[in-house]
Amino acid sequence: MHMYSKKTLNRFKNPKFAGEIKKADAVGEEGNIKCGDVMRIFLKVDKDKGIITDVKFQTYGCVAAIAASDAMCEIVKGKTLEQAEKLTWNDIVKELGHVPPIKYHCSILGTDALRDAIENYRKGHDTAKGTKNKIIANKSKSKKIK
Ligand code: FES
Repeated sequence: MHMYSKKTLNRFKNPKFAGEIKKADAVGEEGNIKCGDVMRIFLKVDKDKGIITDVKFQTYGCVAAIAASDAMCEIVKGKTLEQAEKLTWNDIVKELGHVPPIKYHCSILGTDALRDAIENYRKGHDTAKGTKNKIIANKSKSKKIK
């Protein structure tokens, strides 16, 4: 028995949203304190409507991180920024079927990076600058999540 659901493995093998958006309106980043992997989310936003028109992710993360981020991208594409930032781990797990509890940290990487991207969009930043500082800063934040 594999610890991942079929849906999770399929997404991992064929992620639809893996990649980079060259002229993204915003980029967000989050690091996984447990393994050191990093997730990056790229957003294209319809300025007038506040809708996410395109979203992609890049990561060195594991199966759970890739599958969860891919599911997340599918859910938030076409949604408003407000709807997207309310997305929780449960919404993603519903889409994937099952994520092993030990992989919790990996599967929230995408949503955390998405929130960072939305925050950067609102601040008017279009790139994830100061990556290293950002990840160190996020480490203290991640500790609280456990
Ligand atoms: Fe690093 Fe899952 S082990 S993201």
